[in-house]
This record gives sequence, C-alpha cells and structure tokens, in this order.
Amino acid sequence: MSITLFTNCAELVTPLGGGLHRGTLQGLLHRLPEAAFAVQDGRIIWIGALRDWNGNHDRVIDVGGRAVIPAFVDSHTHAIWAGHRLDDFEARAQGKSYEEILAAGGGIYQTVRQTAIASVETLVTLAKPRVAALLRSGAATIEVKSGYGLTPEAELNMLRAIARLQTETPAALFPTLLIHVPPAEGREQYVQDVVEHLIPTVVREGLARFVDVFIEQEAFTVEEARRILEAAKTHGLELKVHADQFHALGGVELAVELGALSVDHLEASSEAQVAALAQGRTVATLLPGVSLHLGLPPAPGRILVDANVPVAVATDLNPGSSPLFSMQLAVALAVRLNGLTPAEALTAATANAAAALGVRDRGRLEEGCRADFLVLASADWRDVVYTLGAPETIAQVWIGGELVEG
Ligand code: NIG
Ligand code: FE
Repeated sequence: MSITLFTNCAELVTPLGGGLHRGTLQGLLHRLPEAAFAVQDGRIIWIGALRDWNGNHDRVIDVGGRAVIPAFVDSHTHAIWAGHRLDDFEARAQGKSYEEILAAGGGIYQTVRQTAIASVETLVTLAKPRVAALLRSGAATIEVKSGYGLTPEAELNMLRAIARLQTETPAALFPTLLIHVPPAEGREQYVQDVVEHLIPTVVREGLARFVDVFIEQEAFTVEEARRILEAAKTHGLELKVHADQFHALGGVELAVELGALSVDHLEASSEAQVAALAQGRTVATLLPGVSLHLGLPPAPGRILVDANVPVAVATDLNPGSSPLFSMQLAVALAVRLNGLTPAEALTAATANAAAALGVRDRGRLEEGCRADFLVLASADWRDVVYTLGAPETIAQVWIGGELVEG
C-alpha cells in the first residue's frame, strides 16, 4: 500500500500514550521540532527527523514549516435538532433562567416538539452544516446524541439521522442514545419502556455506542438514571452522564460507581464530586460553551486536574445551552474559563476526549494511530489555544491521511 511522507513540520506536538491522562501527565506534551512522519493505510507508521527516514515512499507532502497537532475529538454534541431557541435566548437576556424556561415546558421541550415532527431527511439536512463547521474547527471525531425525540420512535429517528449523516461527512461520528427529559406524564412507564424496549432496539439495530442520561431537578433522578444506565450496561453499551449542570444531585458519584466513560458538565460540582472522580476512571468533561452562553460558573477544571482527575473538553453544540460550532474555540475557552493550561487543554481535546469515547487509536500522533491531524497556520502550536474567532488558525484538517479541509 502506498506510503505518504509528510515533511517540514515546524513542530509536531502531541500527548503520548493511550488511555487517561491525569495530573501532570495531562499537561505533558511531546514536542518534536523539525519533524516528519509517514502514513500508510490511514495510519501513522513512523515519526522522526527527516534524515532518519530510510523507508520507501510514494509521495511527499511538505506542510510548509507549520505546526502539526492531533485532530480534535469533540466528545459531546447534540448536533441533530430542528427549530430554534432564539426566543429562549432573548428571554434569558431579559432575566429568565434556563431552568425556569425548562420547568415551564419550554427549552429542551420546545426543541423536542420541533424535532419530533421532522423527518430523518430534514434532520440530516439541518445537521450537515453543523458537523461541517465542527470539522472545519478541527474535530475529526464527533460524538452526536439523540435526546430531542422523547418518544422511542422519535429517538430512533434521531439515531437513524446520525447514521445517515455519517455517509455524508468524512468525520467519524459516534452516536449516543440520550435519555434527556421525562414526559409530562407517565415517567415511570417511560423509564420502563426505555429499559425494556428502546435500549434493546437500539442495540439490535446497532444505532448507538453509548447511553447518556441527563440527571437534574428538571430531568431524571439518580435512581431513574441508575435503572437506565444499568440496562444499557447489561446490553453491552458504554455509559455517559450529564450531571451537576445546576445542582450536585449524585450524578457524578453514580457515573463513577457505574464506570461511565465520562461525566459531563460539572458546573455545580464541588470537593465531594472531585474526590469521587479522583477515585475512579471516569473522564470529567468540561463544556465551557455552556458557562459562556448561560452565564453559569465554569466547571472547576483547574481543581480537577490538580486532583488527578482526567479532564476532557467538548463543545456541547446544541441550540439551548451551547450554540458553539467550534472545537478550537471550546479549547481556547477551557483555558480562559476553566483554568487549564494550554497544554492541558490540548490533551483535554485530544487524548482524553478519545478516552471519553472509549477509543485509543486517535487523539495523539504515534505509530499505529489514525492519521487524523491538523496543520496550523502558525509554526507555534500554542496559537490554536490562544486565538479567539479566527477560523484560519487551522490551515488544514487531515482525516485518515486524507485532506478534508484546507
Ligand atoms: O448538554 N443539559 C442538558 N442538555 C443539553 C442542553 C440541551 C438544550 O438546552 O437543548 C446540555 O446542556
Ligand atoms: Fe449536553
């Protein structure tokens, strides 16, 4: 198979090692100046100084004296929805809170009403430019959740839309069944239907890798979430949890206890949750777009890293709490809002985000990993974390050794 040699990287910067990067390891990047690397069959087969390459190759690509980093992994999005939340946005700007709007049957419920009546085709058409924006912002792997369907059939349609979307983008999509908010009536029956019918159907049709539950006062209780997540585990699906967005209700502790891949949000987490996370192997995912858009206190990223918790960062792209269409901006915001260092933020968006999706073959540049990488406009990798709002910061996006943007 043909081998491509990439030369003239001003620096190649990457976390090393698959799995969880905690504590000082989270901030430890490997930096190789004046680097070259070889790619075969979409994987990296060699990295080093050009003079040390003594294999054969079929083509050479000069990256132009620019920095190369792993492509981002956006481990938390709700990229499929119909309708909009512009009225919520305006109401919140006039003083109404996100929780008040949700409790009154708006917010997520409004998006549910609009999404449930959309066809799979419409959902795909609406989602395509959103995924394209995330890809342009450097995300080669993107998790996408259902959760605006509510009824089992509408949730299945959302997951079918994700499967269809996969055929229209070079980004790797990782689908999640999200059990988001309960119906106005019959929540006990609803949880039972999810456990007995929806999860088995999703598994039978191969529609999701993960099951996620939103644990919150206006959403599911810890006990309801436990039933759903245990059923998911029994069916061989991996777990994710939305917890501590507004209140620390025990969702973080449940996620750790059940060995969830990640627990996301954590804006309301404090010492007890940090201590629980430090004992486990669940990735803590920061969503700085939510803090910015809803004006919530940022999740304690600095404290989590210092406590040895593996931390990831994601966009949480969704119409209500985080209309953030750039993974590069999410990384940059994690430094400003959550107190990560640039190096910690890069690890959070790459190696630890891959761990939050249960994969080890991406999120770092090493022999054997997928050749998913970014060529930056700059010779200094730190520009990708420093810059706010300049899409050209990322000159090229490569997925599996193929140029997909730039
Ligand atoms: O991750 N918090 C719950 N779910 C989403 C928001 C969904 C919405 O507001 O439409 C989140 O923030
Ligand atoms: Fe979310």
